[in-house]
Amino acid sequence: MSEQYIVEMRNISKSFPGVKALDNVNFHLKSGQVMALLGENGAGKSTLMKILSGVYTRDEGTIHIFGEEIKGHLTPKSAQEIGVAIIHQELNMCSHLTVAENIFLGKELHSKGLLKDKEMIKKSQEVLNKLKIDINPTSVVGSLGVGQQQMVEIAKALESNAKVLIMDEPTSALTSKEIDDLFRIIREVKANGCGIVYISHRLEELQHIVDYVTIMRDGRYITEGNFKDLTLKDIISNMVGREIKEQFPRVETKKGKKIFSVNKLNAGRMVRDVSFNAYEGEILGIAGLMGAGRTETTRAIFGVDPKESGEIIIQGEKVEIKCPMDAIKHGIVLAPEDRKKDGLCTKLSVRENIALANLDALCLKGGIVNRKKERKIVEKAINDLKIKLPTSEVNAASLSGGNQQKVVVAKWLARNSKVVIFDEPTRGIDVAAKVEIYNIMNILKSNGIAVVFVSSEMPEVLGISDRIVVMCDGRVTGSLITKDTNQEEILSYATKFEKKID
Ligand SMILES: Nc1ncnc2c1ncn2[C@@H]1O[C@H](COP(=O)(O)OP(=O)(O)OP(=O)(O)O)[C@@H](O)[C@H]1O
Ligand SMILES: [Mg+2]
Repeated sequence: MSEQYIVEMRNISKSFPGVKALDNVNFHLKSGQVMALLGENGAGKSTLMKILSGVYTRDEGTIHIFGEEIKGHLTPKSAQEIGVAIIHQELNMCSHLTVAENIFLGKELHSKGLLKDKEMIKKSQEVLNKLKIDINPTSVVGSLGVGQQQMVEIAKALESNAKVLIMDEPTSALTSKEIDDLFRIIREVKANGCGIVYISHRLEELQHIVDYVTIMRDGRYITEGNFKDLTLKDIISNMVGREIKEQFPRVETKKGKKIFSVNKLNAGRMVRDVSFNAYEGEILGIAGLMGAGRTETTRAIFGVDPKESGEIIIQGEKVEIKCPMDAIKHGIVLAPEDRKKDGLCTKLSVRENIALANLDALCLKGGIVNRKKERKIVEKAINDLKIKLPTSEVNAASLSGGNQQKVVVAKWLARNSKVVIFDEPTRGIDVAAKVEIYNIMNILKSNGIAVVFVSSEMPEVLGISDRIVVMCDGRVTGSLITKDTNQEEILSYATKFEKKID
């Protein structure tokens, strides 16, 4: 063990039933280093970091932390005590507990058998203040947005004085301001000698904070090096094992008829008089900052949340949508933002998830599923999206984050839909899989479907959509033709608040 490393993992292997998730992987981290751990979906990044943080146990290999060999297995608690903190990829908060209760979960302050609630709230407030996060420690976590919940996770890790901080896709749900805050905080913790492992599929953001890069592919260590010595092209080709020609493939189609209109839709505080149209053979991007009301709009359209007023018009006909089933019957489908909660039945297999969304087409008389047809649909969906799995019988929960997202999209592929709404479909998806998802959108577009696509990532909104609707504060503030606009203009509409909030 060389002195300079605070973490050294050697020859780590780990198998799950049917998958060798890690095959002889080496990994090391220095104090004061921000390392990007990169690789495609399913490369084994989260698994390696879960081993380091005691969530999973290794099958083989050695681990040294601060020069000490870890004999036996780490547990989440022992790893935390040594100073390893992890912020998981999928949100991991207890949604019915408060912010302070989550921050102190498992390490509650108490005396004489009583919880010291006031002190935990005070300490939570301190760490939130330090992060300049405006969240009340007594708020119930379930009432916060995805971005805010992520910030609470970061606060929780920092509260425990971690010396090795692992962030598994921390920015995938943050606003650009929150990302700036996060980067500022990362620089601070780094200056204090903390080593940081940073996992992200947003390669363009690495330049702001990363010193060093380690790349994995298919459960194996591929290469490592100083970030400044590597080009983006090097990184991508090492991750993917081949070159990616086009990051944003476009297909040109002739704009068809107006097929879908939303007219003065109102639903709660975040959907106010929202109107827009979508056309056959078009990709409509819905841009905006986190919390602009885009997800709420898609939920109201799809009948998940009640509408107060407004019309939904499909092919010139006003339709009544009171629940998602109504929407699906009228040819509208939604691939939602929070895939774990709303997009997948994680306890069911991938086959069952795909079949569920297509049951009407698969059921024979008497409600019996046509297995042959089912197999065909499921196999096609898995092949089209190149979903990486040993068999379609594995639980959706066991897939890597990106592959889960692919299943959400795959479910709808087999349906004969007119309008397909994607809410942040590429969140947490690797570069190659993103291209696959764009290709799917393009296929839908070429087939005359109106694709509506909510995204917070400016490059993909500009790269993929034909038109862009911008939202701010629950309202539509701009409607733009993609080829005639740019990032600055979109941002100016995205920040058109009625009142300046500070
Ligand atoms: N609990 C589990 N049970 C079964 N298989 C698992 C489990 N966790 C991970 N795997 C498998 O191990 C492999 C590596 O997954 P891992 O989550 O580490 O990938 P990743 O690099 O983090 O990908 P992503 O970028 O999509 O998050 C995948 O094939 C995945 O399906
Ligand atoms: Mg992962």
